[in-house]
Amino acid sequence: MNEKAVLRLGDQDYPLVITVGSEGEKAIDISSLRADTGYITLDPGFANTGACESGITFIQGDQGILRYRGIPIEQLVQHSRFIETAYLLIWGELPTPKQMDHFSSLLTQNEMLHENMKHHFEGFPWTSHPMAMLSAMINALSCYHPVLSAPSNPSQVEQAAATLMSKVRTLVAFSYKMVRGEPFIYPSPKRRYVSNLLHMMFSQPEESYEPSPVVTRAVDRLLILHADHEQNCSTSTVRMVASSGANLFASVSAGICALWGPRHGGANQAVIEMLEEIHAGGMDARQCVELAKKKDSGFRLMGFGHRVYKNYDPRARIIKSDCDKVLEELGCCDPLLEIARELEEIALRDEYFIERKLYPNVDFYSGIILRAVGVPKNMFPVFFAIGRLPGWIAHWRETTESRSNRIDRPRQVYTGPNERQYVPLEQRC
Ligand code: CMC
Repeated sequence: MNEKAVLRLGDQDYPLVITVGSEGEKAIDISSLRADTGYITLDPGFANTGACESGITFIQGDQGILRYRGIPIEQLVQHSRFIETAYLLIWGELPTPKQMDHFSSLLTQNEMLHENMKHHFEGFPWTSHPMAMLSAMINALSCYHPVLSAPSNPSQVEQAAATLMSKVRTLVAFSYKMVRGEPFIYPSPKRRYVSNLLHMMFSQPEESYEPSPVVTRAVDRLLILHADHEQNCSTSTVRMVASSGANLFASVSAGICALWGPRHGGANQAVIEMLEEIHAGGMDARQCVELAKKKDSGFRLMGFGHRVYKNYDPRARIIKSDCDKVLEELGCCDPLLEIARELEEIALRDEYFIERKLYPNVDFYSGIILRAVGVPKNMFPVFFAIGRLPGWIAHWRETTESRSNRIDRPRQVYTGPNERQYVPLEQRC
């Protein structure tokens, strides 16, 4: 690498170190910039800032490439299962059959909640958003597993990962039951990961819910596609919280809050609400696209655009094709899918979207699958969170085990008032 970076400030040159990633991504290392020059960098939204070096996920946004630990997402959705992909993300390698059996049995052993946790649900009003409940309950888990919340050896990390990944399903399903006033359905050790989640949500004491293999596979693939996405908002949140030394459960709980927003994991819910509005006759697809182009409308075409992808999101492509399979299996057709296709067609031909390289993202079609399975729309972000959990755990591990593990503490350019004197209350008018 012969390239050199030099920063000239006044008449002084400051050579800067260049770092190159394993896929050729180049970065200028400015870690000693302030100490050397007195300057900091300013990058609102961190669009040009690498906060860390990471070996977990690679994205090439111009070409629409996504790989977990080097393996293309297309291969993982075709051949892997969510649990195996989670193992890959957290430990860096695909598991051997023995490791897979061990991890699966850990998940089974950890699927029950402490009975006292059921009482926490009684404290939530029925109108609670499932993301609020999930974040609170994951944080509460740390009180029941104090040793695992700050695991200090690989076996405890494995136990903590299995505890979180297994119990998250039970928490999600119990929150679903709570708002409906239905009895909690306990996990079944005989079922696989997704089947168990759907069983706890949709079975009744007198009638067991048996999802078809096509449905469980589609949801499993959906979880694989959400499992990690390098330094997105929620993962960066998890890493930032972890950098303070906060425990795994607290870090993940904060990640869930960051994911909730409609520009991030809450977009899948917002997409369906947008499609429903069009279906209800509030506006047609063309008007919706026109509205999204008007800056002062405050409205965006939900499920479109991405900070990193300037091409079709590879996850959206896969989910779009899975929509047809699930709807066919369930013998239903969803008018919202037709509207989504129409919106996509109009937007992809529109100069505004072409110029800005705005394509459907992971959230554009995912809600169609979840809706068909019977998941209520305010739980779509929760399914995103279940999928993203292994990524958060992998990043928590990478952060806490990194040699350069410093607390994340960005700087700012202060633009407030200069020093002034306090004025007593009686002198203020
Ligand atoms: N509809 C209309 N215009 C858009 C949209 C959209 N969905 N997305 C971006 N733009 C415009 C934006 O107004 C700006 O235009 P201009 O250059 O004229 O000011 C330009 O495109 C660049 O947008 P940006 O806001 O600077 O891009 P960003 O990288 O900061 O934001 C985003 C990325 C995903 C937040 C944004 O595209 C968005 O709000 N999309 C809709 C919400 C959504 O679908 N979120 C899910 C993201 S994927 C899953 C996840 O990571 O959670």
